[in-house]
Amino acid sequence: MSEAAVMDLKKIIRSIPDYPKTGIIFRDISTLIAHGPGFRQAVRQLAAPFLDQKIDKVVGIEARGFIFGGAVADLLGVGFVPIRKQGKLPGEVVGQDYELEYGTDRIELHKDAIQPGERVLLLDDLIATGGTASAGVDLVNHVGGEIIAAAFVIDLPDLRGADLLREKDVQVHTLVA
Ligand code: PRP
Ligand code: ADE
Repeated sequence: MSEAAVMDLKKIIRSIPDYPKTGIIFRDISTLIAHGPGFRQAVRQLAAPFLDQKIDKVVGIEARGFIFGGAVADLLGVGFVPIRKQGKLPGEVVGQDYELEYGTDRIELHKDAIQPGERVLLLDDLIATGGTASAGVDLVNHVGGEIIAAAFVIDLPDLRGADLLREKDVQVHTLVA
């Protein structure tokens, strides 16, 4: 059986101008995840560098990070842990405020979701300013997890979020810029 051709994922990610605010070009992954071969390729490319990295948990950030994070966790054969927006997790949580490209928010993680020393891969669909992912890294560190890397489908390099993570000594893996 021949290998499927490698697709240019950029071509199946839709860009919507002026959403959610004037001046923002929204990179919409709904078209990618609706495309079976494209979604499969994205999940495999996200997971590839970590197949032999002894990852214990994939941590995905609400909401779009759940879609890729769950699939990557399945591929790696490890558990998935959600980081959710404030007030959504029922157990005892740690929380972190952060700034977005278009506002501010707070994310939370169950205190007992990661055991001290567990090797964590952080997953989200996109990194822009890095505020969300950086807050996610802080939460994982706070409960004693070890961040092995952070992986994203899309990097918006002009907003320097990946640089921000690298300055915190986090390895960053992205698929398209
Ligand atoms: C988006 C995206 C990332 C974050 C990236 O999520 O899914 O989580 O913004 O931006 P940053 O690098 O500037 O922090 P959003 O907060 O819009 O939430 P959603 O996934 O629930 O739509
Ligand atoms: N999250 C932050 N900035 C974004 C953008 N430009 N498109 C989609 N999601 C985002």
